[in-house]
Amino acid sequence: MSFLSETLNRVKPSPTIAVTTKAAELRAAGRDVIGLGAGEPDFDTPGHIKDAAIEAIRAGKTKYTPVDGTPELKQAIVDKFQRENGLRYETGQISVGTGGKQILFNALAATLDPGDEVIIPTPYWVSYPDMVLLGGGEPVFAETTLQDGFKLKPETLEAAITPKTKWLILNSPSNPSGAAYNRDEMKALTDVLVKHPHVWIMTDDMYEHLVYDNFVFTTPAQVEPSLYERTLTCNGVSKAYAMTGWRIGYAGGPVELIKAMAKIQSQSTSNPCSVSQAAATVALNGPQDFLSERAKVFRQRRDLVVGMLNDTEGLSCPTPEGAFYVYPSCAGLIGRRTQDGTVLETDLDVVSYLLESVGVAVVHGEAFGLSPHFRISYATSTEALEEACTRIRKACDGLS
Ligand SMILES: Cc1ncc(COP(=O)(O)O)c(C=O)c1O
Repeated sequence: MSFLSETLNRVKPSPTIAVTTKAAELRAAGRDVIGLGAGEPDFDTPGHIKDAAIEAIRAGKTKYTPVDGTPELKQAIVDKFQRENGLRYETGQISVGTGGKQILFNALAATLDPGDEVIIPTPYWVSYPDMVLLGGGEPVFAETTLQDGFKLKPETLEAAITPKTKWLILNSPSNPSGAAYNRDEMKALTDVLVKHPHVWIMTDDMYEHLVYDNFVFTTPAQVEPSLYERTLTCNGVSKAYAMTGWRIGYAGGPVELIKAMAKIQSQSTSNPCSVSQAAATVALNGPQDFLSERAKVFRQRRDLVVGMLNDTEGLSCPTPEGAFYVYPSCAGLIGRRTQDGTVLETDLDVVSYLLESVGVAVVHGEAFGLSPHFRISYATSTEALEEACTRIRKACDGLS
């Protein structure tokens, strides 16, 4: 009998680890590897936010805080939701956790019973299915296609809903595809949800501020106010403010759910880091103009990468609305042969070939539940991206 739990057995090890480990091995062996796997901005946390943290330490804000956030940070989040999303929450409807990840985890752990289903559109952020499984629920995958811009169609959502559906997790802009729903597309989905009052909506709005070409971000409770009572609007400072290491995520939602999430957090980590909370308060209350400056840089990089990939035989890459990822199809490479005679059969074979032949590390689509694709993160320097895409083209040209 295993000492380890049945629940643990339900969870698979991270599928991204194989590629990351291989890239690290090659680097250690002295190979020149360009990593396009990172899920974080290459920008630094802005100076005024760092200063706020230093001040907080000096002022002795180094003790336990209320479990799910300081009153100051909760107020800053209430103001942010009102200002940016037109959503009205009280501070009692706000939860702050150690990253967006803990917020999502708490919500699932607080609500799932065995057999409960959670609809997850594919391609998905790698953690959703395993968080659902850890919570005792069942992930139900709703597939999107490249032709539909990786956006969930209302009829696909409708078909995935059963009497056991508890949540839909909706991530816009998406990791890994970068796809984001405009108001009409979002409304088409919320129209379906209105008809199914037992289904709750967990939005993952982490990439809200990373949208391009005048795209207007929307979130379900804003587009369809009648869903407000069963929506958990999740967000965080990690991606927008380049604060991945500070570990602050948050959500707004119905009081009963927020209290349940605090109960879980009170018996695991307690409050998120007090210093990080002080910094996040200043991030949300402070100047926001640098966000559009940074978004401009990301847009230029996106255009560069999409252009170069579409110039590569065997690859096809739509232009996503947001985030800092692209998710090209590599269907045109499947069945082709490498210089040593190996036939590329899966997207894992493709990314292994790119890593070994030209030293470019990307993540295979299977990790995100939709193949044959791979994910490129363009949160890296323009020079590195140009070099990486040139190498990818060379590797693809070398196939027979
Ligand atoms: C879609 C999505 N949601 C949530 C998270 C988690 O964010 P945090 O670092 O705040 O836990 C990430 C981070 O990669 C993400 O890509």
